[in-house]
Amino acid sequence: MTETDPNVEIMLARPTDALALAEMSRDLVESGLGWSWKPSRILSMIQHPEAVVLIARTRIETAGFAIMEFHDEHAHLNLLAVKPRHRRAGVARALLAWLEKSARVAGLSRIVLEVRDRNQEARDFYDSMGFKPEEILDGYYRGREDALRMVLELMAPEVAAQRPK
Ligand SMILES: CC(C)(COP(=O)(O)OP(=O)(O)OC[C@H]1O[C@@H](n2cnc3c(N)ncnc32)[C@H](O)[C@@H]1OP(=O)(O)O)[C@@H](O)C(=O)NCCC(=O)NCCS
Repeated sequence: MTETDPNVEIMLARPTDALALAEMSRDLVESGLGWSWKPSRILSMIQHPEAVVLIARTRIETAGFAIMEFHDEHAHLNLLAVKPRHRRAGVARALLAWLEKSARVAGLSRIVLEVRDRNQEARDFYDSMGFKPEEILDGYYRGREDALRMVLELMAPEVAAQRPK
């Protein structure tokens, strides 16, 4: 297993990070789909009481980031990206581990995400983190591309079924 780069620190994003994260989303996640995660939308997540925006930072730059929203029973991973020069150093694993721990502490039963069906690298990453494919969502991305919904179960199904509604 990759050791996380010791020069990378994980922390909560600040409002001043919104532009850099929006540009990373545009260039690393949304390329070819149009830019929907503009700075104002990222800022609304940073300020949202039920969302967590994490950044992975080196001394000189933001290496990666992740945004997760917390709902009543599940969490939704909205965005996750790592700059190419920082990949395969455990940065995404560290970001997701933090978020998974938060979701467990919040007593949530699953983490859900959508990924471009043809994004094999991300699918392999999520697979390595224990996510399972759940369904294909036809034309999910502006009618142009299909998504694969993947789910990480945080509780045994019988425990999740007994949760008070
Ligand atoms: C997917 C992504 C976030 C992974 O980030 P990363 O920091 O390189 O991932 P990690 O170093 O934490 O990888 C952890 C494990 O995931 C798997 N993995 C990660 N990238 C992989 C790849 N390109 N191919 C196969 N397996 C991969 C491996 O098992 C890896 O462990 P190993 O390096 O010990 O083999 C990164 O490639 C990325 O930003 N891609 C573009 C944006 C994107 O697709 N985001 C997800 C959709 S929102």
